[in-house]
Amino acid sequence: MSLPVELRHRLVEARHIAVLTGAGMSAESGVPTFRDVQDGLWAKYDPMTLATEEAFAEEPSLVWAWYLRRAQMIRLVEPNAGHLALAELATFKKVSVITQNVDDLHERAGSDVLSHVHGGLFDYRCFDCAAPWQAELEIPGDIPERVEPPKCTACGGWIRPGIVWFGEVLPQKAFQDAVDASASCDLMLVVGTSGIVQPAGSLPFAALERGTPVIEINPEESRLTDYMTHWWQGTAAEVLPELVRLARGQVG
Ligand code: OAD
Repeated sequence: MSLPVELRHRLVEARHIAVLTGAGMSAESGVPTFRDVQDGLWAKYDPMTLATEEAFAEEPSLVWAWYLRRAQMIRLVEPNAGHLALAELATFKKVSVITQNVDDLHERAGSDVLSHVHGGLFDYRCFDCAAPWQAELEIPGDIPERVEPPKCTACGGWIRPGIVWFGEVLPQKAFQDAVDASASCDLMLVVGTSGIVQPAGSLPFAALERGTPVIEINPEESRLTDYMTHWWQGTAAEVLPELVRLARGQVG
C-alpha cells in the first residue's frame, strides 16, 4: 500500500474526485499507445504525419484506413481492472473522468466520461461541413492500405474521425468542463500520462493551485511527477483497485 496516512484520509473523505487519464490507462488492455512502433503495413508511416488535417486532405483513404485499423484494435480489446475500478469508485463517490484517450474503454467499463479532451475515435463528422455522422461504422476484417471514407449525406464531403489532430484546437466545452472539475474537486488522480501534451498536461495544476492534493499513478516518472502531491508508483490495473479498497476505508 503506497499512500501516506494523510492522503488515505483525504481519499476516504473526498466527495468529488477528478481523474485525468492518458494512454497508460489503456496499456494493460493491450491498446498500443499512440507512439508505439507501427507494425507491418504501417511501419513506413509516421503517426505524427498521419494524424493531421493536411494528411487527410491529401490522402483521405490512407488516413481513414489507418483509423479503421485503430478502431478494429480497440474493438478487439477489453477494459482492464483499472477502468473497472474507476467505474466502481463512481458508485460511492462523485468521479469526473477526464481522458486524453480516444478509445471508449472507460465507457465500456461503465464510467460516465466527463470529457474526452482529445476527442473520440468513434465520433465522426464531415471534414467539410462538420455535420455529425451517425451511421454504423463498417470495419472490414482485413483492412487494406487505403479505404475510401464514407461521404457526408449533407454536403458530400469526406467523413473524418472526431479526434483532435496535431495543430487542431481542443473541443472547447470538453476542455472547460475538465478545467472546472480539476479546479473544484477535493482530490485529483493522474493516471498513465507523460504530461507532455498541452494543454491537457496543465489540468493537474488547476487542482494544485487550490491546495487540492494530486496523486499520480504511473510505473515511471513523468513530466508531472516532481509537482505531484504523491507519486504512487505502479500500473493502473494494479493500483486503482487498491485505491478503491482504501477509498472504502478497507485497510490492508
Ligand atoms: P504517453 O504515451 O505520452 O504517456 C503514457 C504514460 O503512461 C507514460 O508516462 C507511461 O509511463 C505510462 N504508463 C505506461 N503503462 C502504464 C500502465 N500500465 N499504467 C499506468 N501508466 C502507464 O501518452 P499520453 O500522456 O496519454 O494525443 O499522451 C498524450 C497525448 O499524446 C495523446 O492523447 C495523443 C498523443 O499525441 C492525441 O491523440 C491528440
